[in-house]
Amino acid sequence: MRRTLIAGNWKMNTDHASAVALAEEVAARAAEVTNADLLVCPPSIYLESVGKALAGSPVALGAQNMYAEAKGAFTGEISPAMLTDIGAECVILGHSERRAIMGETDAQVNKKTFAALEAGLVPIVCVGEQLEQREAGKTQAVIAEQFEGSLADVTAEQVIHLVIAYEPVWAIGTGKVATPEQAEEVHADLRKLLTERYNAETAEKVRILYGGSVKPGNASELLSQPNIDGALVGGASLQADDFLGIGSAAKTD
Ligand code: PGA
Repeated sequence: MRRTLIAGNWKMNTDHASAVALAEEVAARAAEVTNADLLVCPPSIYLESVGKALAGSPVALGAQNMYAEAKGAFTGEISPAMLTDIGAECVILGHSERRAIMGETDAQVNKKTFAALEAGLVPIVCVGEQLEQREAGKTQAVIAEQFEGSLADVTAEQVIHLVIAYEPVWAIGTGKVATPEQAEEVHADLRKLLTERYNAETAEKVRILYGGSVKPGNASELLSQPNIDGALVGGASLQADDFLGIGSAAKTD
């Protein structure tokens, strides 16, 4: 059975003091969440301090991005080994904001996915359609293309070590959450893509998170869907009450 994962993506928010305070509160109250794994992804500059604040707690540490190369002349970038060195266990890859604002492509996300896996990081690979694509009936095709491109050549042995996040772009930070049925439809499609590429047994092992305006009030309906295995939470992860409230809404295994 897939254990629910609630991942907080702090994006470019907090300062040093508030990042540490938030991590300390989530760590101290982590026992409130019994049916889910918890992960927080602070801005990279605060990873080390947040990692220290989480020490001894069950809350995992993740990054929001990384570069695919191991080292060298890549000014401003952070390598996979630097993330593991600082205690990060996961890394979000191909978030829609990086795709839209930084122009990240499926090919780059694919390269990063292999680099993360090689370094022992759990990649959380994001896919999701824009509003116009949904309205034009292209959701399934867009998701399939991003799945194929971002996860090209990933083997069955590797895919069970990564997480997929479905984040409809129109639901991110807008307060417009996908209905549980809309989300489940895409999650079921992703499970089918995994089954077709690998096999049912492998597909059953891969966690697929939903992201886009998840709040304590809508979490249990979303998380009770058969193919929704957790949430990637932006705005609501900045308040410990909301983040832990989402975690508490997780279904039992
Ligand atoms: P949101 O962001 O929860 O603020 O909509 C989700 C995300 O981008 O991960």
